[in-house]
Amino acid sequence: MYTANPKRYNSMQYRRCGKSGLKLPAVSLGLWHNFGAIDDYEKCRNIIHTAFDCGITHFDLANNYGPPPGAAEETFGKILKQDLKSYRDELIISSKAGWGMWPGPYGDLGSKKYLMASLDQSLKRMGLEYVDIFYHHRPDPETPLEETMTTLDLMVRQGKALYVGISSYSAEETQKAIEILKALGTPLLIHQPKYSMLVRWVEDGLLDVLDKNGVGCITFSSLAQGILTNKYLNGIPADSRVASTRGNGAIEKDALTEETISKVRQLNEVAKQRNQSLAQMALAWVLKDPRITSVIVGASKPEQVTDSIQCLNNYNFSKEELSTIENILK
Ligand SMILES: NC(=O)c1ccc[n+]([C@@H]2O[C@H](COP(=O)([O-])OP(=O)(O)OC[C@H]3O[C@@H](n4cnc5c(N)ncnc54)[C@H](OP(=O)(O)O)[C@@H]3O)[C@@H](O)[C@H]2O)c1
Repeated sequence: MYTANPKRYNSMQYRRCGKSGLKLPAVSLGLWHNFGAIDDYEKCRNIIHTAFDCGITHFDLANNYGPPPGAAEETFGKILKQDLKSYRDELIISSKAGWGMWPGPYGDLGSKKYLMASLDQSLKRMGLEYVDIFYHHRPDPETPLEETMTTLDLMVRQGKALYVGISSYSAEETQKAIEILKALGTPLLIHQPKYSMLVRWVEDGLLDVLDKNGVGCITFSSLAQGILTNKYLNGIPADSRVASTRGNGAIEKDALTEETISKVRQLNEVAKQRNQSLAQMALAWVLKDPRITSVIVGASKPEQVTDSIQCLNNYNFSKEELSTIENILK
């Protein structure tokens, strides 16, 4: 029997998502990896319990998370039913569709046909009546943006999603999506881009578009899938994502180039001087920008969740620290 920690709201920070009424925890948990059918169920439970006990109220999923695709939603649905049923109104659960999910022309990208069917499948797998946020997972160059956005609006009108978001859309595409959704009466709540010390594209326009329009921003892979931690400084640990053969976009050995590891080694020294782990500093570095609503972290162990959230103890950087970091990243 799981009973949530009564002190779970004591230390987590909650940030307003753009100009909406919704607040999200500054650190959220994502289930892209480590919650598939190949993963130990009790460990998955433990990670979710640890996160919720620390005040992490937001769990980020998608139709294709696993492996196999769909398995993370099934695992999460089982945990919800077993442990979190009575806490549903304390949770923000998101799902997405946009990547290939089933064969044929209706299981991928951004058509109304695909997105409506996919959301119904996700709700069934998680045993939910609605998701709190539904995202279009990636831009579709072929489907008219009006069709995809009208579909997001319809989901809200049907009560299957409370809010809508987009992921990995460029600044220009985001501006267009914002305008279409605004005209439909369902404002864009949030954008989910990849953003870390190693991947900086959002700084070239996207964050300004979001800020100007009052849209929130929740980042993914802010630890670069584990590269921005101290775990790969002395080789590849057997229990790491790189050592696994998970597929579905998980980083592999070739991501650990000498150039990258040399930067990580130097960043690790800066983190030490700040009395933080490198993981904490990498997350703090993203959260220093008030335009960021939340960082979604992944975790293969409960201890990683408790370690990562300590980034909230210090996300202020001196000018000197910032310029040292910029020099390392150059
Ligand atoms: N919208 C999109 O297209 C998209 C794409 C990717 C991800 N996402 C979302 O973002 C979430 C996070 O993505 P991600 O898994 O790439 O994130 P990440 O936070 O960059 O990487 C997570 C991995 O980092 C390691 N780690 C985490 N905390 C650690 C700590 N404190 N100390 C040492 N190592 C630590 C673990 O690696 P080990 O497994 O090696 O222990 C963990 O599996 C996903 O679950 C998903 O919800 C969205």
